[in-house]
Amino acid sequence: MVSFTRILFHQRSQALSTIKATGIRPLRSLLYVPCSSPKFLAKSLEENVASSDTIIYDLEDSVPISRKKEAREDLVSFLKANPYLKTRLAVRINAVGSGFEEDDLASIFSIFPSSPSSSNFTPLSPLKPEDHSSTPPLPVIVIPKVDHPAHLSKVASLIKEARGRSAEVGSRVPLIASVESAESLWNVGDIAGWRGEGCQMSGLLFAAEDFCASTSILRSPSRVELLYARSRIVMAAKAFNIAAVDMVCINYKDENVLKEECEEGRRLGFDGKQAIHPAQISRIQSSFSPSLSEIHRATRILEGMEAAELENKGAFGLDLGGGKAIEMIDEPMVKAAKRVVQVANLLGMTDKALSSTTDTDEGPSPHGP
Ligand code: COA
Ligand code: MG
Repeated sequence: MVSFTRILFHQRSQALSTIKATGIRPLRSLLYVPCSSPKFLAKSLEENVASSDTIIYDLEDSVPISRKKEAREDLVSFLKANPYLKTRLAVRINAVGSGFEEDDLASIFSIFPSSPSSSNFTPLSPLKPEDHSSTPPLPVIVIPKVDHPAHLSKVASLIKEARGRSAEVGSRVPLIASVESAESLWNVGDIAGWRGEGCQMSGLLFAAEDFCASTSILRSPSRVELLYARSRIVMAAKAFNIAAVDMVCINYKDENVLKEECEEGRRLGFDGKQAIHPAQISRIQSSFSPSLSEIHRATRILEGMEAAELENKGAFGLDLGGGKAIEMIDEPMVKAAKRVVQVANLLGMTDKALSSTTDTDEGPSPHGP
């Protein structure tokens, strides 16, 4: 227990200095707020909605064609009136070629031409809430229907135009590309690895419904038909160290389906999940946070490795209970364990883990008891 405590506190002080330096906080839930209705915009300031790690203000599919202009204007007025949101701000623009994308970007960057703060948006994404002394961070731009990297280059050139000279001094705009078609999935490595001036490729997001419509896939409740696409997206994101965001759970009144989807997404390697309803936020956040049993296991691994190293060993056997089941632990498991403890510290879960002596929590525990 002494060593367990020491590991957590040591990692926590490291994590806290990281937070101070960068404002880093894990990415888990990304909630869509349709800009079609001022009521939804206002709701996004309320605690149950603003508790999402990121809010994606949507100008695309949740807004009918007849309201595109008003929705864009309403969003601009809303953001001007509320420049410092509690959550990470993202805006989903309309797709390249829709005829709306240029005006969307011009409007957004008329409010945020530049920002001195970091725009790095990785699975441990930066968030500087309530730092009223600095310019608000640049919004993340979510781009729907990215079929190939040329779509990203087009968006980057429109952003450059919209930001004007500010783009030369401000930080880079984080982009998240939405994978929605067969062509997109085929090109996903080139999309994830895209580099362009003034922007930073920061994440991939899976739009399951459009993807099924584009590929003639017939979804079953098991979602097995989507496994290949989801895994391919995760691999492309991990290859380029950007965020992987899982599909929307459309059964937004069914807590069991959401739980199943979240746990599956987590096991597949996703960093977070899109949400459409405030009721989905807390489940997504807990599923994409380490469980107490994962934290306990991770600290036992770090503790065990410390002891093994004292004996000049690079591997040891972790007792999974009663000395009957033993699992070999070496460097890759230690790496994963360090990340679990780091994320736990960032989420302030350390105290809970320290005060809990039993593994009573639920949630995905992919490698542990
Ligand atoms: N953002 C902000 N507030 C939301 C919200 C959202 N995405 N979804 C629901 N709410 C609010 C509702 O306005 C309602 O507020 P009220 O109690 O003050 O009336 C409350 O949360 C409860 O909502 P509920 O009545 O259960 O749902 P609804 O019938 O109003 O809306 C949807 C259901 C699915 C239409 C709505 O959640 C929605 O439009 N989600 C986003 C869809 C979207 O963006 N799709 C594109 C991306 S895939
Ligand atoms: Mg779509």
